[in-house]
This record gives sequence, structure tokens and C-alpha cells, in this order.
Amino acid sequence: MLGCVAYIEPRGSESAIKPEKRRRTTITMVVYLRAARDVLVTWMLAFWHMLLTYYIGTITVVRQWTECPLAFPEFPRQADRVAVITGATSGIGYETARILARLGAHVIVAANNRKEGTTVAATIAKETLNDKVDFMFLDLSSFASVRRFAADLAARGLPVHVMVSNAGVMLLPEDYTSDGLERHFHVNFVGAALLVRLMLPLLHSSGRADRPSTLVAMASATHRVAHLSQTPVGCYSAHEAYARSKLALVLFWRSTARRVWCRRMHVSLRLADPGVVVTPLFRHGSLFLRFVLRLARPLTPRNARQAASNSVFAALSRVSPGPEVPYFEDGKDRPPFPVTLDQQLQDRAWEMARRLTYANDDQDWDL
Ligand SMILES: NC(=O)c1ccc[n+]([C@@H]2O[C@H](COP(=O)([O-])OP(=O)(O)OC[C@H]3O[C@@H](n4cnc5c(N)ncnc54)[C@H](OP(=O)(O)O)[C@@H]3O)[C@@H](O)[C@H]2O)c1
Repeated sequence: MLGCVAYIEPRGSESAIKPEKRRRTTITMVVYLRAARDVLVTWMLAFWHMLLTYYIGTITVVRQWTECPLAFPEFPRQADRVAVITGATSGIGYETARILARLGAHVIVAANNRKEGTTVAATIAKETLNDKVDFMFLDLSSFASVRRFAADLAARGLPVHVMVSNAGVMLLPEDYTSDGLERHFHVNFVGAALLVRLMLPLLHSSGRADRPSTLVAMASATHRVAHLSQTPVGCYSAHEAYARSKLALVLFWRSTARRVWCRRMHVSLRLADPGVVVTPLFRHGSLFLRFVLRLARPLTPRNARQAASNSVFAALSRVSPGPEVPYFEDGKDRPPFPVTLDQQLQDRAWEMARRLTYANDDQDWDL
């Protein structure tokens, strides 16, 4: 009897443990499978965004090739004008500042690196024989810095006739600014939007009805493959983050233009798309991308100087007054991406910038 009990008990407890073990194994497997699925979906989405970006980039390069050669008219002298160029320490911004300085404008190199900014301003001044080239510190990834820049500029008592909102970042690994925003979204869109909002009164008072001040933003063809939202759908992808920030910027620009037009302000907004130009903008790309760009550089149809000519063309062109925003690419006003004409979407971008940057002393965000 005892033997029988001794024989039965272990069998009984074993069979009680087995289903429990099996349940735990199943749960562990489900957890692992879900994690693997999430990683796969994340990877596939990031890959998909990358493909979309390179697809649009390839189309742009092919178009630039087929539309060569590129010629701009001679730009008029700008001796009595003041121009602010953000991100003027390298690439297209540097060349834009150089062209405007050569035309005799008072150029303000607005950059986030004091040493480099001062050197660049001095180099451009020496090279163009224009002693009115200054540096002012501006870090678009900090609301405090943007506010300080706008206040310092206003305190100088200078008019501002041209502002090229050129600074930008691309292909950064996931990173957040001290104001808590994803870095592409902050620098390329929210920081630029706050600066514009703070500068509008000065731009308005510097312009005239028959010669408005001009405000140019650097668009990118990648905005065509993005969706407007503050955060990505799903996972982080540097390509998607860049494209999304540019879409928000384009929409914000169009919403601002309508508001400025309704108030009959003496400011005209334009968009400039440089196409694909190999500049330090790509320095955060993968090793493979940088290798391909190094090989392909001699084949790319546009350089930073030509792209800068497009920015200057956008800034100096006479445009018939109205709420529309011309989209300049290679010196031509291109048809807009239809989605960006949706006024509700434009106002969502405006509202997003207002909500993220609003401070009690911004009495007039609601333009
Ligand atoms: N290159 C292209 O193919 C291409 C295509 C479409 C659109 N774009 C746009 O054109 C613009 C100029 O690009 P690029 O090619 O000339 O690139 P770039 O050579 O890298 O110039 C970008 C400039 O922005 C500055 N910047 C970055 N973060 C900043 C911040 N937080 N505050 C102030 N300035 C900041 C950079 O300064 P640091 O170097 O000190 O960071 C640099 O001077 C960008 O808006 C870009 O998105 C370029």
C-alpha cells in the first residue's frame, strides 16, 4: 500500500508541474516571438522610409541631370539691404551668405558655433570686400537661444529685408533636445517656426507694400513621402524624421503666408528646394551612404553654389502678392505637392509650432 502511494505521489506532482512548465514555456515563446515581430516591423518600416527617401532623391537627381545646364539671371545689387542666413557656416548656407555679401548686402551669419561663425563671417568679409558681414549666435535646438537671438537682433536696431531659414540637420541617430523634442523635428521645423514668428514684426517693419521683406525656407523633396505628426508612427527612423520635419516646415510656411497676407503684412514667404547636393548635411549617414556619395560626388549635377543661387533667386525674385508660396527649384517655380495645399493640414502645423513653443510673453502667436 505504502509502496503504491510512494509510486503514485511523484506521478501526481509531476503531472501537476508539467502543464505549469508548458504554460511558462509558451508564455516565454510568445514574448520572444512578439519582440522578434516588433524588431522585424521596426526594421522593415525604417527600411521602407529609407527606400522612399532614396527613391525621391534618385528622381530629383535624374531631373537635375536632364535639366542641365542651369543658369540664373544676374542678381541686382543689395547694398541697402540686410540679410540673415541661418546655418551659414557650411554648405548651401555658406554659399548663400557669400553671394549676398558679394551683392553688397549687410549679411548676418547666424550659426550655432561661435568660433566657426566668427571665422566664416571674417572670411566672407575679406573675400567679398564687404565689411558688413557679422556673426550672431543662434542654436535652433534651444527655444531660449532662438528667443535671445531675436531679441538681440531687434536690439541692434537694424532692419531685416531677407531671411533665409537655411539651417538644418539630417540622418541623426535618435536624440532629443533639452526642450524635449526629437532633434530633426526641433531644428528643422519647431526652432525655425519660432524664429519666424519672433522675426515677423521686424521683417514687416523693414518691408514695404511694393517691396516686401522676403522669408525663404529650405524645403526638401522628401516632404512628399512624409505624414504630419509630432512623433513617428511606430519606431524611429532618421529618414522618416527628416522628411516629417520638412513636411511640417512646408505646411507651416504656407499657413504663415496666408496669415501674413490676411494682415496685409509687408512680408513675402517662399520655399527653396536645392535638390540633391553633396554637403556636410550627409555626414551622419551610414558608412555605406557616405562611401556611395564620395564616389558619386563628381556625377551629382548640382553643387552648393548652384543650390545657393536658387536660394538667392527665391529671396530676390519679384513675386505677385498673394497668400501662395512659390516653390523654387533650380530657379523655377515648381507646382506644389498637392497635400501641402490642404489648409487644415497647414493650420495643424502652425498650431503644433504654437503649442510647442508658446510662452506667456508671446502675445501675438495667434496671427
Ligand atoms: N544638401 C542637400 O542635398 C539638401 C537637399 C534638400 C534640402 N536641404 C536643406 O538645405 C539646408 C542646408 O543644408 P546643407 O546641405 O547646406 O547642409 P550643411 O552643410 O550641413 O548646413 C547646415 C547648417 O545648419 C547648421 N545647423 C545645424 N544645426 C543647427 C542648430 N541647432 N542651430 C543653428 N544652426 C544649425 C549647421 O551648423 P553645424 O555644422 O555647426 O551643425 C550648418 O551650418 C538644410 O535645411 C537642408 O535640410 C539640403
